Amino acid sequence: MTKTTDNLKAAFAGESQANRRYLAFAKKADEDGYPQVARLFRAAAAGETVHALAHLRVLGEVKSTAENLQAAIGGENYEHTTMYPDFIKEAETESNKQAVQTFDRAMDVEIIHEKLYQEALDSIGKKQEEFDYYVCPVCGYLHARSAPERCPVCHTPGARFEKVS
Ligand code: FE2
Ligand code: FE2
Ligand code: FE2
Repeated sequence: MTKTTDNLKAAFAGESQANRRYLAFAKKADEDGYPQVARLFRAAAAGETVHALAHLRVLGEVKSTAENLQAAIGGENYEHTTMYPDFIKEAETESNKQAVQTFDRAMDVEIIHEKLYQEALDSIGKKQEEFDYYVCPVCGYLHARSAPERCPVCHTPGARFEKVS
């Protein structure tokens, strides 16, 4: 791997994080009564997404949809089989209950993400069925076609789920 490939990966990671950090800051600015600051954070977040996607494209990491689904399955699988179990153990050792909870929830949800990606991969080359997904705003659980009565992972009411069309 060349130094520039390393740098592109680092820049992609940094810009991706800046995007999410700015969206979190925008929400806080709105709560604090600074809607114009919130707008600036959201606008800059959109700019960082442009940078992140450009770096990823140069890295050559956006491939065919089947390959991208396979990559997504690999990432989700790594998270729920290796990364989060290790992180949970360490958080337990350090008695960080909030970290245990956020890792634990994410781990449960990554299993569902992997499953949905696998189903999508299995459907490649077949007639494509179209339906919406519903996202739990608390834990990130996804439900196909309709919102559940309550989130099976964190029990948030389905009425609060966000539809992704
Ligand atoms: Fe940037
Ligand atoms: Fe995931
Ligand atoms: Fe949830």
